[in-house]
Amino acid sequence: MLSYRHAFHAGNFADIIKHLVLANTLHYACQKPAPLFYLDTHAGAGVYRLGSHEANKTGEAAAGIRKLDFPALVASVGAAGSQALTIYQQAINAYMHQGQYPGSPLVAAALLRRIDHLQLYELHSTDYRLLLDNTETDKRIFCQQEDGYHSITALLPPVQKRAVILIDPSYEMKEDYSRAIKTFTAIYQRMPTAQIILWYPVVLRANIDWMIAKLLTSNIRDLWQVELGIEADNDTFGMTASGLLLLNPPWTLAEQLRDCLPLIQKQLAPIAGHWKVNNLVAE
Ligand SMILES: C[S@@+](CC[C@H](N)C(=O)[O-])C[C@H]1O[C@@H](n2cnc3c(N)ncnc32)[C@H](O)[C@@H]1O
Repeated sequence: MLSYRHAFHAGNFADIIKHLVLANTLHYACQKPAPLFYLDTHAGAGVYRLGSHEANKTGEAAAGIRKLDFPALVASVGAAGSQALTIYQQAINAYMHQGQYPGSPLVAAALLRRIDHLQLYELHSTDYRLLLDNTETDKRIFCQQEDGYHSITALLPPVQKRAVILIDPSYEMKEDYSRAIKTFTAIYQRMPTAQIILWYPVVLRANIDWMIAKLLTSNIRDLWQVELGIEADNDTFGMTASGLLLLNPPWTLAEQLRDCLPLIQKQLAPIAGHWKVNNLVAE
């Protein structure tokens, strides 16, 4: 039975790096006129109230998105970082003004165009109902209450021939680590040009090292790792950092992130924070 609810974590430091990368990947993809296929294997509820009982209980949004000072960030970064922050901020702004934070489906919907298609999977019955409510007026969006890992490869390659795929498990089951990597490599085999964004939490660093080692034994090219941490690795704090394994990211993304992640880290976790942008396998 699934017990994870993203409402407790929406807008935390992990959502910031995930949605910053997602928004900028989609922004870049939308510069080409051809339609795009967006697939979200673990969509969540779509929108979260920042003043909810769940958000107040953990305080994660207060220590995350509510702590970010966008004007100060934009004033201190270079042009590449400023562009990345602005694209992210524009995607979340309308929600923030209403005391809400958008999940990945609505960050994506804010960037994508009328010609694009969004395919969303969510298994949890409560979050699935919320996801339907939060997306029902958007005719570009198609939701299914099915296993996101299982459904994904049958859809690829899509008719649009261009795809951005977010794999964002909750990792509440140990098999999520291996299922996520199996899905990543299966997508690559079916569609090597797909852009994949796989999110991971650093709770036990060995699990992430294992994921990367697995990908490095495949023939995958243009593979990147980006990360934002609030504590040094340890086995008592819970999630000390979180990151993304990226396939075929926009060529502009590394510079954007190298520009703005150090400043985001300084605002969120000035003492023990850390960040990385690594090219694991060249193009
Ligand atoms: C980390 S949350 C998703 C957050 C969302 N992607 C965002 O960025 O706003 C993970 C979600 O995956 C759902 N889930 C867990 N296992 C799943 C599976 N096998 N297929 C689809 N959804 C699943 C959980 O119920 C949870 O809502």
